[in-house]
Amino acid sequence: MRTALIDALTQLPDSLQSTVSEWLHASAFDATFTQAQVADMEAASGLSGAALRLALLPLAAAYAVTPISRFNVGAIVRGEDGTLYLGANIELTGVQLGQTVHAEQAAISHAWTKGATRLTDITINYSPCGHCRQFMNELNGAEDLVIQLPKSDAKSLHAYLPEAFGPADLGIEARLLADQTQGLTADDIDDPLLKQAVEAANISHAPYSGNYSGVAIETSDGRVFKGMYAENAAFNPSLPPLQVALIAANMAGYSWDKIASVALAEVVNSTVSHLADTQASLDAINPDIPLLYAGLRA
Ligand code: THU
Ligand code: ZN
Repeated sequence: MRTALIDALTQLPDSLQSTVSEWLHASAFDATFTQAQVADMEAASGLSGAALRLALLPLAAAYAVTPISRFNVGAIVRGEDGTLYLGANIELTGVQLGQTVHAEQAAISHAWTKGATRLTDITINYSPCGHCRQFMNELNGAEDLVIQLPKSDAKSLHAYLPEAFGPADLGIEARLLADQTQGLTADDIDDPLLKQAVEAANISHAPYSGNYSGVAIETSDGRVFKGMYAENAAFNPSLPPLQVALIAANMAGYSWDKIASVALAEVVNSTVSHLADTQASLDAINPDIPLLYAGLRA
């Protein structure tokens, strides 16, 4: 277990430390808490709902990878079924700052890669920046999303983002995390990692460019982490598929030195491409990581 997580454990209320420590030490811990685990923590601590999530924020922030800022942000999202998903910011040394992942984006896409389709709440240890407020406005259920910070009352996303610009302004009905599949086929692809990248592309959210795309990362011990591209109506807060796969690997406790190979699959008869940026980010992480590529036709 990473040392930041061991430090974070000591910041939890005493009444939670032994229960949570046991889960964290289990090899299957995947930076989520099930509804049953939440009930156990509520009973042990006397904290409920948002108060419990605020108390757990140090654990989320412990996943931050911040070689540039050393500023660790943690976020916890709650799925409709009560599951909690942790997330933290990720910075990439040697890569332009626009490729940074914010904690809010990490928690949201972590929930997405584990199958959540609607989120009710997000709890963050700092106020969400404008870019994150915009990113969240793309979500399925954005109109009901509640934001909780340590020193403010709970407020709706729309209280944080009045007069919002969103998908409806561009006539788009698809929402981030809502079930949608593109029907892209991998029949003529033999490579198993590329096939998984196609699976990710199929459930990506790219209604603006049509660049449905996905990444699959294989680790040196054979795990595969998939990442779907997440576009935004305002374009710039879009999250590339490599970042979503990196978040999934990071939240499972993998560091970049465990990345063995990466596959990118994207629709090529669209208006944008992830090939150059994916290659550049990977080169900065480790130039020896091979990148497999499949261009798909929608
Ligand atoms: N950061 C977040 O993760 N969320 C926010 O909304 C504010 C900023 C991160 C991005 C970067 O890694 C660091 O904090 C400094 O801006
Ligand atoms: Zn942000």
